[in-house]
Amino acid sequence: MTPTIQADAEQLAQAAADFITAQVRANPHLSILVATGNTPMPTYAELARRVEAGDVDFSRATAVQLDEYLGIEDDDPRSLWNWMRRSFVEPLGLTRTVRLHSPGQFGAAIRDLGGLDLAILGLGPNGHLGFNEPPSPPDAPTRTLALTPASLESNRAYWGVAVPAGAITAGMDVILAARQTLLLVSGAHKRGVLHAALRGPETPEVPASFLRRTALTVIADEAAWT
Ligand code: PGA
Repeated sequence: MTPTIQADAEQLAQAAADFITAQVRANPHLSILVATGNTPMPTYAELARRVEAGDVDFSRATAVQLDEYLGIEDDDPRSLWNWMRRSFVEPLGLTRTVRLHSPGQFGAAIRDLGGLDLAILGLGPNGHLGFNEPPSPPDAPTRTLALTPASLESNRAYWGVAVPAGAITAGMDVILAARQTLLLVSGAHKRGVLHAALRGPETPEVPASFLRRTALTVIADEAAWT
């Protein structure tokens, strides 16, 4: 599989917004696993512009949380739930959400939805998806776990302070069962891991490598691929 290459992060956001817009137009009840992180933010901002302009309607779609730190209060600025609400749920006008509280609750909620239609994903510098840290096999379930030093370091950059060492993540099994997966990758610092994910062996050491088993669309900018 070869990614769709865009000139820069702005073009990437346009292409990703086109893809997601087409999905929700085809199925207004789309259930969407929603990554936070820096990469998808311009895409969500572009979607918000389209919603504001009346070009697309997300009001019947469902946003599903991908991952969260453990031991975080609702008013903690590091809450990934709040980041998803601020960047995606509220500006796009969604009314239905699934929060990731516990593996059992989450599994039941996904079953009630009839599974995920679309997983919007970023690529961790260490190859993680959500907080499925290496090594994560394809059947890794929704679970709590300890973040790796690489993720602690890259996540610290979001907030300027340390993040909790514990996390909960939607499982690899949940992500890989999504009917469509969309991987967004931007920047030269992701080039090595993107090539490993798409061209290297499928291995738990690069959890994103298992995305090749899915109906995968990869949109990357030139810095991340060429
Ligand atoms: P980023 O994070 O989009 O901020 O690079 C991706 C990730 O760690 O999953």
